[in-house]
Amino acid sequence: MALYAIGDLHLSLTANKSMEVFGPAWENYTARIGASLGQLTADDVLILAGDTSWGISLEEAEADFRFLDQFPCKKYLVKGNHDYWWSTASKMKSFFTEKGFTTLDVLHNNCAFYGDYALCGTRGWFLEEDQKPHNAKVLNREVGRLETSLKAAEGRPILCFLHYPPLYQGYECPEILRLLAAYPVERCCYGHLHGYAIKRRLEGERNGTAFSLISADYLGFVPKKICE
Ligand SMILES: [Fe+2]
Ligand SMILES: [Fe+2]
Repeated sequence: MALYAIGDLHLSLTANKSMEVFGPAWENYTARIGASLGQLTADDVLILAGDTSWGISLEEAEADFRFLDQFPCKKYLVKGNHDYWWSTASKMKSFFTEKGFTTLDVLHNNCAFYGDYALCGTRGWFLEEDQKPHNAKVLNREVGRLETSLKAAEGRPILCFLHYPPLYQGYECPEILRLLAAYPVERCCYGHLHGYAIKRRLEGERNGTAFSLISADYLGFVPKKICE
């Protein structure tokens, strides 16, 4: 039994957006994901830290969810910036139930428990968002979601999973870092960085939180073991 995490699977079994166009790092990626998820057991828990499916609706993402659900480990999905299928927690959960997907759940204004740990998460905030209108509103909403999730931990030690990196060479999001330090979060894993951007990741301990990048191409499509 172990806890694993990976972000950015970018599955595209229905939507016509294969990541293979991005070169050899993504070659045959769906099969490679299948091979590594096939190693996990029903006792294992896997966090999917956003950008899971290119589907623009739950219906279009269905084949990607079915692909994931064939592997017996419990999976918690966090929203990424490309998860256009993302909906309310109740709609997503009803869709999974209706389709018979028994291993899928979401981290969305809540937390899950793993041993003594609380697993928290939300999409987060990134410098790209500064280009968009109403960015303060979106930032505040994400900070609020993160805090709701962290509060739900009720004092347990926290592992946090964000899609966007809260820090990056040349960038940090003080509002999110403040929350991670305040609760405090023991470990924070993030995705979103691909290709050349991977070089700008920041890893290691900062203000009591250990940071690590878990985007799928960085991990070679093998989920990172977080703890037993
Ligand atoms: Fe991504
Ligand atoms: Fe992303």
